[in-house]
Amino acid sequence: MDYVSLRVSTLRGDQKIDFNVFVKIGEKHVLYLRQGDSFEGARLQRLKEKKLKKMFILNEDEGKYRKYLQQNIEQAYDNKSGKDISVRSEIVHGQQQANSEEVFENPEDAASYQNTKTMAGKYVDFLLSNSTAVANVMNIENIDKNIAHHGVAVSTMAVALADKLKTLPSDQTQILALGALLHDLGHHEHQTLISIPQVQMTPEQMRTYRTHPHLGSERVKELKHFDNQVIRIIREHEECIDGSGYPGKLIEKKQDPLSVIVATCNALDRMITFDNVPRAEAKKRIMIDRVGKHPLIHIQHLGDILKENIK
Ligand SMILES: [Fe+2]
Ligand SMILES: [Fe+2]
Repeated sequence: MDYVSLRVSTLRGDQKIDFNVFVKIGEKHVLYLRQGDSFEGARLQRLKEKKLKKMFILNEDEGKYRKYLQQNIEQAYDNKSGKDISVRSEIVHGQQQANSEEVFENPEDAASYQNTKTMAGKYVDFLLSNSTAVANVMNIENIDKNIAHHGVAVSTMAVALADKLKTLPSDQTQILALGALLHDLGHHEHQTLISIPQVQMTPEQMRTYRTHPHLGSERVKELKHFDNQVIRIIREHEECIDGSGYPGKLIEKKQDPLSVIVATCNALDRMITFDNVPRAEAKKRIMIDRVGKHPLIHIQHLGDILKENIK
């Protein structure tokens, strides 16, 4: 029998599936979820804990899977669907994560970049038109320390921060969300390094870790379909306004304004997701550790965003 793979993050929500889903154990495909079941709560949690990124369906069911995806996402983005906002947020989050994984794996694919860009625009509307959307998305914990999930978190905070700053032209928000989503593209080759808390890295690991903005931007800089500002965000998101960041030691006015926003949000989610700072302490920690490295107004707004949204 022939199987095709699908991304686990696309299977969220309470909609029943009308196809069987398999996991691969060794060379064998083993039935994991039967047609008629749905991917909710504990079941999805267990899958994430196993760090399973891909599952399988029979080749002949691909059409049904596509239909499931389409329905799932349409309902999730429909402000009038009457569906619970936490379920909608989970689906939308999963789709953003899957889109980003697709670009990470194959940045040369112009169609998947375009789709990711279009959906990043829809994601901005979703966050800004539903009062509890930001909170719902931010409370989806990144238990498997997934880079694409980290991208969604940074993207969400960046949109929330831009909304508070009110200094960004509205046509820039989509690029901001997209750049934030893809900012760690350079980590795709060294996925394990990002999950080590920075204080525990050896000098050698730290050196490799710090190559990721350069690696990522070099990887995509010749690709015509990549927006220039997205490439700049990939290159500049570890810079600091005082010139103490990397790779370019750029002061604020040498950076794209979008990069400055992404850098602050990235510093915060890096603390929460990879440096194991408890969410309740993150507000205090970013104040202590990062003042001077990011605009103070960003840090203050992000502190409020945490307070307003984290359970
Ligand atoms: Fe980074
Ligand atoms: Fe990051």
